[in-house]
Amino acid sequence: MVKITLKHKQGSYPIYVGVYLAEIGPRLRREDFGQKVMVITDRKVSTLYGETVVNSLYQAGFQANLAISGQGEKAKTFRTVYRLLQAVSQYNLERKDVILGLGGGVTGDIAAFVASIYLRGVPYVSVPTTLLAQVDAAIGGKTGVDLPWGKNLIGTFYQPRLVWMDIGTLLSLPRRQILQGIAEVIKYGMILEASLLSFLEENSPDTLFKHFPLLVEKSVKIKTRVVESDEKEEKGLREILNFGHTVGHGIEMAYLPKFTHGESVCLGMVAESWLAINLGYAKKEILARLICLLKKYSLPWDISRLSVDRVLRFLKFDKKVKQGRWRFVLPRKIGQGETGVELEPGFVRQTWKKFSRRITNEG
Ligand SMILES: NC(=O)c1ccc[n+]([C@@H]2O[C@H](COP(=O)([O-])OP(=O)(O)OC[C@H]3O[C@@H](n4cnc5c(N)ncnc54)[C@H](O)[C@@H]3O)[C@@H](O)[C@H]2O)c1
Ligand SMILES: [Zn+2]
Repeated sequence: MVKITLKHKQGSYPIYVGVYLAEIGPRLRREDFGQKVMVITDRKVSTLYGETVVNSLYQAGFQANLAISGQGEKAKTFRTVYRLLQAVSQYNLERKDVILGLGGGVTGDIAAFVASIYLRGVPYVSVPTTLLAQVDAAIGGKTGVDLPWGKNLIGTFYQPRLVWMDIGTLLSLPRRQILQGIAEVIKYGMILEASLLSFLEENSPDTLFKHFPLLVEKSVKIKTRVVESDEKEEKGLREILNFGHTVGHGIEMAYLPKFTHGESVCLGMVAESWLAINLGYAKKEILARLICLLKKYSLPWDISRLSVDRVLRFLKFDKKVKQGRWRFVLPRKIGQGETGVELEPGFVRQTWKKFSRRITNEG
């Protein structure tokens, strides 16, 4: 077990990597919480792990109940939030009682949002069960839901009181879900930590599970470091984590539910690396290495198959738009990126189309 502490403006919290779900109850007992815990989870995770968590809480003397959040990105809505607030309220959850988010990034984002607004905030405990949520979403306190025209447009910054990661839960993940998490690890490799990229290049997708403890621990440490330097994304430092996400969010919303979040980010990283090359920020090799790695992990890379206009329509509503210009994080070289690059929509469209022509010519 590894314990990593994240320090933020109002205090700090521990992130445990390599613990057991069945031990969550006794650990929560050590905190100054109320008697009740509302576990928010989706149906699939509830079937797999709901009972283990609820039993552990009971045995530690808590009252516990389950509320189902809905499945997948399409459940990340106000309607779900309203339904969960009803459930929490009917359970008479009080100020010191706990909301525990059990599941992937979707469940976590919704559950943490509910915890942040119910009674103006009740303690939130995060128990991520997907690789994507363990390496990324569960750390750093971004919560929220989507609007039909844009991702994560509603939300709060609300830090959990504790994060509990059982690596064993990752073993029940379908391959496609594991690869989603790898997509975010590739992102860290591209703009923050070159050694992660080499690690993925040297290892094979089939034996990756052996390295989950290491990958999760390294990723948690990277994200913690970035969040601590700029908790509310005010100084331009946390923004680095948006690499692949400006275009990625557009793709995710334009093609919902065809591409998962991680897959959209892969395509977004290709598009944004291509922009970087065309602007002279980075050398061609960076894109060749990225595409080679994405192919190795069977992740999507070919943006020429997408409709540029369909994707760019969604960028208009993105939070990363400032005064009509789009803000990008572009790679400089492997392991290093540039934040706050503002580009005109016309330039982005033209450059993307150039990529498509090139692929068509090469193909
Ligand atoms: N808050 C943040 O900082 C942040 C960062 C990155 C991503 N995100 C968000 O995370 C979301 C994507 O996360 P996700 O891919 O984890 O989504 P998810 O919560 O929808 O989980 C994916 C699927 O895996 C299933 N699942 C979860 N755990 C499982 C397990 N252990 N075994 C088998 N199946 C399991 C779920 O039921 C679901 O069907 C996006 O909405 C994205 O915006 C948030
Ligand atoms: Zn992401």
